[in-house]
Amino acid sequence: MSSITGKTRVCGIIGDPIEHTMSPAMHNAAFKALGLDYAYLAFRVRKEALKNAIAGLKALGIAGLNVTIPHKVDIMPLLDKLDPLAEKMGAVNTVVNEDGILTGYNTDAPGFLQALKSSGIEPKDKKIVVIGAGGAAKGITFVLAEAGAGLVILNRTPSRAEELAAQMARFYKQGLKAMALSEANLEKALAGADVLVNTTSAGMVPDVDLTLVPARLLRADIAVFDIVYNPRETRLLREAKAAGARTIGGLDMLVWQGALAFEKWTGHKAPFEIMKQAAVKALQHEK
Ligand code: ATR
Repeated sequence: MSSITGKTRVCGIIGDPIEHTMSPAMHNAAFKALGLDYAYLAFRVRKEALKNAIAGLKALGIAGLNVTIPHKVDIMPLLDKLDPLAEKMGAVNTVVNEDGILTGYNTDAPGFLQALKSSGIEPKDKKIVVIGAGGAAKGITFVLAEAGAGLVILNRTPSRAEELAAQMARFYKQGLKAMALSEANLEKALAGADVLVNTTSAGMVPDVDLTLVPARLLRADIAVFDIVYNPRETRLLREAKAAGARTIGGLDMLVWQGALAFEKWTGHKAPFEIMKQAAVKALQHEK
């Protein structure tokens, strides 16, 4: 933003904790680059204050919101409309306020898909191995299935992988398997796989030496996507690169989810590279 005026429109992010978010850096850089009279702020909103925060959003005419932990699910009944994808995923990370009508969207998983496609991988008919079965895995497996990929989900707690596969089987018919996360199962799953995705927090600071995939199972013909963005290159990505594989880091997913939200609020094409540079800089400041 260049200067705040009486006409400046406000966007922001709600969550708790929120002080480490990179979203204000990304969005304000994008507003500035496009000369848009918008400003983006971070708001720490406690769980019990969510309802009042949403009423306040309407009263103040805040144009758009990102939503992060712990509000992504709890916000859903407080909105006027839900995008079908957000409804299917059971989580909202973006709200658009149109004249007091609040619509909830999910740009997290579409952000993942954009990052994958931007690196040259079309998921249709690919065999994709997903590690993890939590909230992040849910969105990612849904968009991948929607895009026509065959999926194998491996999770430390096997019942969660089975539960996720069962939820998905209601919507999608193509190959869908669930397994316990073990070296033997990983080896089986990776035979003939095109892409491996880590949706868990394994390898994130401070546990930077942790990886769930033994290096001997990585190959040049399996692209590896790690949703962890801090560090930018996790041990998994480093070992995949050493095996000659294409690698995609979580920062691209983060920036794409922001870019897609930006486009919903402003109607302008998001300046992806500018947003990415701002996110990289913000991440460096964190250290
Ligand atoms: P999120 O919403 O970020 O996905 P989550 O719902 O808590 O968070 O899910 C975290 C996922 O990472 C789970 O699949 C979890 O495995 P469990 O279901 O067995 O708990 C997985 N995970 C986290 N740390 C892990 C580790 N050290 N080893 C294996 N899996 C791990």
